[in-house]
Formats: sequence, C-alpha cells, structure tokens
Amino acid sequence: MVSYEKSTRMRKKASFFIEALKDFKIVGSFFPSQPALVKKMVRLVKPSRGMVVVELGAGKGPITKELLKKMPPESSLLVFEMKKEFADYIKKSIADERMTVLCDDGRNAGKYLRKMKLGEADYVVSAIPMGNFTAEENLKTLASIKDMLKKGGAYIQFQYFLSSWREVKKTFKKSEIINFVPNNIPPAFIYRCVK
Ligand SMILES: C[S@@+](CC[C@H](N)C(=O)[O-])C[C@H]1O[C@@H](n2cnc3c(N)ncnc32)[C@H](O)[C@@H]1O
Repeated sequence: MVSYEKSTRMRKKASFFIEALKDFKIVGSFFPSQPALVKKMVRLVKPSRGMVVVELGAGKGPITKELLKKMPPESSLLVFEMKKEFADYIKKSIADERMTVLCDDGRNAGKYLRKMKLGEADYVVSAIPMGNFTAEENLKTLASIKDMLKKGGAYIQFQYFLSSWREVKKTFKKSEIINFVPNNIPPAFIYRCVK
C-alpha cells in the first residue's frame, strides 16, 4: 500500500511533470530542482538588513523556501511565476509575510518593485529556462533583470545548458560560472552576474 505521505509526494511530482508536458518551453524541466542545486543557489545570497530579493520562475517553490530561511525578518521577497497552478500552490503552501507571489512574467518585476516602493533588488534569483528561448528573447529578459537590480546587486541563475552564455556576457560584464551540479535531474550550471 502507498502511504499518504508518499501519495502526496507523487501528486506533487506528477503535477510538475504534467505542467511540463503541457508547456515544456516555459516550464523547462520535468522535475523540480533537487536539494543539492537549491542549496548551492541559495548559498550565493548573503543576508542583509532590509534586503530585497526577486525570484523568477519559482515553480513549486523549492528555492523560495530556502531563500525565506536565509532572509532576515525585515526583508522582502517578490516571487514571480507565470503558471497559475504553481503560483497558487506557493500561495497555499508557504505562509510568510515577507513574501509576495505574483502570477506574471518575471520580466515585469521592475514595475512591481516601483509600485511597491521597494526600489531596486539586491538579488535576482532565476530559474527561467533561458535555453528554451531565442537569443533575442534572452537579451530582453537579461536587460529587464539588469534594470531591476541595484548597482552591485547580483543575478544568480541555474541553467541546464549554457546556450545563452553569450547573451549573458554581453549584458553583464562581471559574470562567472560558479558551479556545476551533476546530481540534479537534469545536471545544472549555476552562474552569477554582478551589475
Ligand atoms: C525549470 S522550472 C524551475 C522551477 C523551480 N524554481 C525549481 O527550481 O524547481 C522554471 C519555472 O519558471 C517559470 N517561468 C518560465 N518563464 C517565466 C517568466 N518569464 N516569468 C516567470 N516565471 C517563468 C516556469 O513556469 C517554471 O515554473
């Protein structure tokens, strides 16, 4: 017999899987990120008082949860997720007054930061599947990310392929590949860019 916990876990996986089947270009993977990748992404975020973090492409929130553990009480996390099913899932499963979940294209984050009077972000942490988009689309995404960051702020991204690396280097002079995580499905690179 399958335990309740196991069947819930299976449903969670199945739903991510189904969304990926429906729209692989946007979802970009059949599985949520595994703990090793999440830890290595979040390790690059240094907590500071009043910090503002923007997360792009939160899925079902594995990175969101770890970011919230790390961020101090007086801070703000703006979470962007295009898929309504995932945005609703995060709203229901994570209760935290520092977090605002927006079911919108993360490229619009600058507009929300201004509307919410949060200024510019200290960090943009992204899982947008850049490898599924054209160079032109990625240049637009990267320009919007640069725009929402404060000077000295960092953009942290994981990618399964480095096909958009040329666009990244073009947009951010200071960019480096920090890690390769072989024990994620699929294996992933992590890069960091500083504005
Ligand atoms: C590879 S999944 C990663 C999900 C989650 N962060 C994780 O690590 O498991 C990429 C997510 O980005 C979302 N996404 C893709 N493009 C987006 C965009 N422009 N704005 C907001 N979310 C986006 C997809 O719906 C999907 O949930």
